[in-house]
Amino acid sequence: MRAVLLSSFPFFPRVAMTFLDLPALGRAAGCVRLPGSKSISNRMLLLAALAEGVTEIRDLLDSDDTRVMIAALQKVGAGVTACGMNSVRVTGCGGVFPVKQGELFLGNAGTAFRPLTAVLALCGGYYRLSGVPRMHERPIGDLVDGLRQIGADVRYSGNQGFPPLDIFPATLNLATPIRVRGDVSSQFLTALLMALPLTGEAATIEVTTELISKPYIEITLNLMARFGVTVRREGWQHFAIAAGQRYRSPGLVHIEGDASGASYFLAAGAIGGGPVRVEGVGRGSIQGDVRFVEALTAMGAQIEMGDNFIEARAPASGKLKAFDLDLNHIPDAAMTLAVMALFADGCCTLRNIASWRVKETDRIAAMATELRKFGATVEEGADYLGVTPPAVSLAPTFSDNATIDTLATIDTYDDHRMAMCFSLAALGGMPVRINDPGCVAKTFPEYFMAFEQIVAPVIAIDGPSASGKGTVAQRVAAALGFHFLDSGALYRLTALAATRAGVALDDEAAVAAALPAEFPGERILLAGDDVTEAIRAEAIGVGASKVAALPAVRTALLERQRTYRRLPGLVADGRDMASVVFPEAPVKVFLTASAAARAERRYKQLIEKGMPANMPTLLQDLRERDARDAARSVAPLKQAEGAELVDTTPLGIEESVAAVMDIVRRKLPRQEWQGLVT
Ligand code: DC
Repeated sequence: MRAVLLSSFPFFPRVAMTFLDLPALGRAAGCVRLPGSKSISNRMLLLAALAEGVTEIRDLLDSDDTRVMIAALQKVGAGVTACGMNSVRVTGCGGVFPVKQGELFLGNAGTAFRPLTAVLALCGGYYRLSGVPRMHERPIGDLVDGLRQIGADVRYSGNQGFPPLDIFPATLNLATPIRVRGDVSSQFLTALLMALPLTGEAATIEVTTELISKPYIEITLNLMARFGVTVRREGWQHFAIAAGQRYRSPGLVHIEGDASGASYFLAAGAIGGGPVRVEGVGRGSIQGDVRFVEALTAMGAQIEMGDNFIEARAPASGKLKAFDLDLNHIPDAAMTLAVMALFADGCCTLRNIASWRVKETDRIAAMATELRKFGATVEEGADYLGVTPPAVSLAPTFSDNATIDTLATIDTYDDHRMAMCFSLAALGGMPVRINDPGCVAKTFPEYFMAFEQIVAPVIAIDGPSASGKGTVAQRVAAALGFHFLDSGALYRLTALAATRAGVALDDEAAVAAALPAEFPGERILLAGDDVTEAIRAEAIGVGASKVAALPAVRTALLERQRTYRRLPGLVADGRDMASVVFPEAPVKVFLTASAAARAERRYKQLIEKGMPANMPTLLQDLRERDARDAARSVAPLKQAEGAELVDTTPLGIEESVAAVMDIVRRKLPRQEWQGLVT
């Protein structure tokens, strides 16, 4: 079964798709660069808009929720302009917003609705704030009560205690502490903390109940401090903001990768073998959800953490352990654990998660309903979930008689996290249909593409020039119905682009700058020109071997090559497919032949094409190119660890294809090639 792919290129409108089918998946391994954190992105945008000066925000998340925030800020007078990929420049207002009236539609973005309510209530203007129907079911009464205590004029235009809201100018009085509940949403406290410095007066907040989701308050305080405002905190009950503080732009800021988003990939690594590495968060993260790794560790997963990465692999025992955990500090990442429970060795209990009930959907009810579709027994409480995995436990390695035709259809309730969580269930050996997959655009528009890049099986075929690997790889891809990457074509295209640009092929920076923007597809284009044949010229092959030795070129092409990894699988041919680009590939082949045999094949090819050919010259060129490819310092041509050698010197094409297919059948779980082979 093929996945329907989601088209979600940044800055393009969300594509409405009814469903996406994920096939039964065998394993997960690879590397994912995370998009920016939603919580940090939206806080940073708001603080930058309120600050004095210009802030450049890099690695900003591009998603529904951040677009909603940007549009709202622009409407009330902050300057927000794009300045490069995932970067914006925000010209702050130096205090309250200058536009004194407006209607703001804030979708289902709690991280925009709550803080903007508080900020606008202190701006002295007339504003109406509304959202999607679900937003109007999410409580906001505690925040409004808090604001009314200091004299703010905030009124409900629909149901009492819920959006939409009307805000009017008011005279404020901060003499007495604001008392606010902390047990429904920590965003109410975040909203007050971010807004109160705008008054310039001293303010205190007392949290009257147990505060939930404390790590999110830590993010708020941390980011406020970066914009020059400090808050004195006593425990989690008392917060004091000294008079006379103003937000000042720190200039350039970077957004960390999204730690909640990281949880799906780390979970996939723990379930599907791994290692799966996420880049963009690590040991120094300010996001509470990095503590998801503690839960993974409790389940027996093996974790490695660096300053800017986290890596997860399956437990050494091969089986994930059941857990009983208080997850109040990681409410979002905790959802991932609910789906991981399907793979555990016993009943798992998720405690202290009442806030799930007022999120994008009632997540406790939604999770219970969907987990039952996999045969789990689920006990649902007001603030907890008990999940007993199905009697025949799901497992990422399949038995020969696994029922690959059974399809579990998952409803996602317009909740991005439901969609992302349940992609993991496909690792249980059963295809999964995700309804309304586009809902991931709320925080992670490219989620399914990233997911494919850790779960799609890869067959890596490396070998020297003219070993026949290109033809063999293409035939194997066609037989399996897999995608095909001819990585040499990328280097050839680079050499041709540099040559046409008049760049010396040893000028590293200039060659890297000449890299074409287009990705080779069926036909290979360079600035609109079809160069499919032109890149096959001998001279371009020699040039490709030269530019391939330049580290800047290899680095620039690395990510591009990885994007070819799509479901149902990829056959990739080159020199470093198994060693560098897809080191996690389950099937690795080193396809070679003697230099004499390869020169003879090339000679025949050229003669057949009516092109001039000279055997001694061809042999010498091949040997020189082999030497250059093998001797370079970065990603030299070599038989990678775990790669099986196929010497095609005595073999014809059909025999070579058969030899590789034998390896595929041995190395890939049955479901990954069974039924696909034509
Ligand atoms: O496979 P090919 O002849 O099309 O490759 C052209 C050149 O590109 C080759 O000399 C080495 C280089 N190359 C590489 O360095 N790494 C790859 N993965 C693929 C090709």
